[in-house]
Amino acid sequence: NADQFITINNKTYKSDPEFTNVTPSIISHVNRSLHKKPNHPVNILRDLIEKKLSSVDDAFTTYNNFTPVVSTFENFDSLGFPADHPGRSKSDTYYVNDKTLLRTHTSAHEMECYNKVDSTGKPGFLISADVYRRDEIDKTHYPVFHQMEGCRVWKNRSIDEIKSDLKVLQKKLDEHEMKLIVEDRSLENTPEENPKQQYMTDQEVDLVSQHLKRSLELVISEVFNQKINSMKKEKNSENIPNELKVRWVNAYFPWTTPSWEIEVWWNNDWLEVCGCGIVQQQVLLNAGYEKDSTISWAFGLGLDRIAMLLFEIPDIRLLWSEDNRFISQFTDGSINTFKPYSKYPGSTRDVAFWLADSSKDSIEIHENDLMEIVRNAAGSLVESVKLIDRFQNPKTNKTSLCYRINYQSMDRNITNDEVNQIQKQVETELVDKYHVSLR
Ligand code: PHE
Repeated sequence: NADQFITINNKTYKSDPEFTNVTPSIISHVNRSLHKKPNHPVNILRDLIEKKLSSVDDAFTTYNNFTPVVSTFENFDSLGFPADHPGRSKSDTYYVNDKTLLRTHTSAHEMECYNKVDSTGKPGFLISADVYRRDEIDKTHYPVFHQMEGCRVWKNRSIDEIKSDLKVLQKKLDEHEMKLIVEDRSLENTPEENPKQQYMTDQEVDLVSQHLKRSLELVISEVFNQKINSMKKEKNSENIPNELKVRWVNAYFPWTTPSWEIEVWWNNDWLEVCGCGIVQQQVLLNAGYEKDSTISWAFGLGLDRIAMLLFEIPDIRLLWSEDNRFISQFTDGSINTFKPYSKYPGSTRDVAFWLADSSKDSIEIHENDLMEIVRNAAGSLVESVKLIDRFQNPKTNKTSLCYRINYQSMDRNITNDEVNQIQKQVETELVDKYHVSLR
């Protein structure tokens, strides 16, 4: 039975009726590699960050070719994810089978790259790649996006070395044209939920966290300075920020402690840019390091949302467009504002249904399951899916849901017949798989 095997990148995997939830539509994205596509916004941003970080002390090896199929060990266990962590759930993650999945973050490759540090001769690495998460459908969410992971290692824990690396970095930051206004909220808050690790001294934690924070501040200075300069060139000087506020807040990740997030004040909102922290010793031990020998920081940064902000791209699906009117607008090495072209007309359909009675019928539907049915039927023709009505009949206790689906293509006109057919497929799958009754 052909259904029992799944082929991704010329490799065949056994599927598992309990776990497999990757769809052909998702698999079709596996080789798109927008982070390596010449003259593409995601590629331009990746290149900009790599160059800036490497300009400090040439400390990073770059890895941009890892394939997205990884083991649950690489994606979760090697990083100390507890067995019941929500990130592991089938509603959030694309599984190929019970032991194999599409990576949900670039951290899946940390162990492997830590292991290679000695042979590269560089004390750090940057990994850029496509990552996959089941999620809602709207202008800022797409099930495939791109991250850059950064890690930096100090073997032998030489305080003098950390100090001198920090000094070089601080100088680079001081020389930067852009001056950030930095608020560090993590310093005020109780460090108890975000403890340092036993094997490190207070001084080591202090110096290494400064190195991490200053590295990311340098990245942000560079990226947003380029944006501001391009705005000055393109537009008359209204609404161009002349300073940039950032803040550090405490965060939690299974494989780092302490952990933080950095947020940037942009368009009257705090934008989460990046999670980071001091890597748990267990990850380093998993990668073959000797106990208590090494200190390391790590960060993970989402490229797509920052690219959308820099290039003023209003819908995340545009990043995937092959339309010449989109791809011809950008040039490697520079940031410019996207010029909208006329959208093709869209078409709206509602789907309303009664949920199956869960006491009689054990099939439950998660909202992401509905999203997946629509994505698989519509591919890139779906713009958004929103719950517009939900109610429970007091007599029967049955729940009714109504979702509004906006169909619209970035690249061409869609016909009514085409939309009707997709809508029919969505309805049929809802009934077949989740036993709902259409209304
Ligand atoms: N992988 C994390 C995420 O996807 C980000 C991160 C990377 C956090 C490295 C800490 C260290 O959100």
